[in-house]
Parts: sequence; C-alpha cells; structure tokens
Amino acid sequence: MAPLQLGAVMLLLLLQASGVLSAYTNLPDVPPGIFNVSARIEIRSNKHAAWKALTDFPAYPDWNPFVRAAIMVSSGNATLRDQYPIEGRRLFFRTQIPALPMPVNRDTPDVEANTQYSYENVTHIQRKKGRMAWEYIGDPGLQSERWSAVSDIGHGKVLYESREVFHGPTAEYLKPLLGETLQACFEAQGEALKALLEECDTD
Ligand SMILES: *[C@@H]1O[C@H](CO)[C@@H](O)[C@H](O)[C@H]1NC(C)=O
Ligand SMILES: *[C@@H]1O[C@H](CO)[C@@H](O)[C@H](O)[C@H]1NC(C)=O
Ligand SMILES: *[C@@H]1O[C@H](CO)[C@@H](O)[C@H](O)[C@H]1NC(C)=O
Repeated sequence: MAPLQLGAVMLLLLLQASGVLSAYTNLPDVPPGIFNVSARIEIRSNKHAAWKALTDFPAYPDWNPFVRAAIMVSSGNATLRDQYPIEGRRLFFRTQIPALPMPVNRDTPDVEANTQYSYENVTHIQRKKGRMAWEYIGDPGLQSERWSAVSDIGHGKVLYESREVFHGPTAEYLKPLLGETLQACFEAQGEALKALLEECDTD
C-alpha cells in the first residue's frame, strides 16, 4: 500500500476507535444538569415515519411501554381536538416508571404503584430538523427538558435520539432514587419505537 493510502486507512481506524465517526448527533447542545437520561438507537425506517410515530400521541398506548398516555390539553386540562404538538401548549403524561414489559398495547394495564402523572410544556417543534422538546412543569424545584430527534443516516436507517437533562434541588433527590430506572425507561421507549417502525416496514 502506498504511504498516503496507509495513512488514510490508519486515520480512519483511529477515528473509529476514538468514536468520532459515531458521534453524530441531532440533539442540541444544552448545559449539563444534575443528571441526564438518554436513548440512542438506529432503526430500519426513515425520518418521516419516525417523526409521525413520535408526534402521534393518540397512538402511544399501542406501543409505548413508558409513556402510556400523552394528551395535548388546555390549561384547564381539557383534551384538545388537535393532538399534534404545538409550542407553548400543554401536554399531559401518564407514565410507567419502571416501564412495562414489552410488548404492550392499549389494553395493557398499568402497574398502579409505578404510575406517574406529569404536565409538560411543549417548547420546540422543529419538523424540518426532526427535533422536538418539552419541559416538565409543576415543581419549581425541578427543571427538566426532554429533547427527541430523528435523522436519516443512510442505508435505509433513521437514528432516534432522546435526552432529558434534570436541574434543580429536586433533581438532586431524584438522581439516586430514579436515575437508573428512568434511563431504562428511555431505552425501553427506543426499543419499542424500533419494534413499531420495523414491523410497519415489513407489512
Ligand atoms: C449527560 O450525562 C453524561 C454522563 O454523566 C455526561 O457525560 C454528559 O455531559 C451529560 N450531558 C448533558 C447535556 O447533561
Ligand atoms: C387531566 O386529563 C387527563 C387526561 O384526560 C386525566 O387522565 C387526568 O386525570 C386529568 N387530571 C386532572 C387533575 O383532572
Ligand atoms: C412554554 O414554552 C414556550 C416555548 O418555549 C414558552 O414561550 C412559554 O413561556 C412556556 N410556558 C410555560 C408555562 O412554561
């Protein structure tokens, strides 16, 4: 091999080893908090289908073992006719922490002791960039925003990423209590999204 070629191959190997090539992310840079939880998974699908699945809140109960209900609501908690997320509007969540075992459908019962409710404010809907975010509201001691992103990465695949960074005194308390469990919930949602999209792909 010519020295130049060899140099290029070695550079590539070095980049791979150092993780530079796998460091692509479509999540925005945000300041670190007390802790964060995240998911990152490649899915045999495309950005359009992944975006559709993530913004189709009425269908969440059919596939999502973590977020069992996601409902766009008014400030008075009435279900909005249009369920598509819009910045500044309120989102109601009923979650299972830890996540339910897979697979789930809309009839899968909650484990009552693991049910949590929260209200979120939709903060960013960036369809072209394939990014969306919402932040927890309701506890002045906790600031946490969850970003999710989908990107076409070639080879018929989409990359799904999600990360929530927790700030504030309540985050100090939550970290040892729920940090690892929430991390597993994010991963479970990623796996379930993959199962959903790859299953649709084959019919
Ligand atoms: C998330 O946590 C990881 C591991 O603790 C840390 O390296 C990273 O900087 C954190 N990122 C953010 C945005 O908080
Ligand atoms: C808000 O609405 C959701 C969804 O309809 C419902 O499950 C929840 O119980 C309501 N919360 C309150 C406080 O009424
Ligand atoms: C909700 O998010 C929007 C968009 O980022 C922001 O302008 C608004 O102040 C937030 N509302 C609340 C109640 O936090």
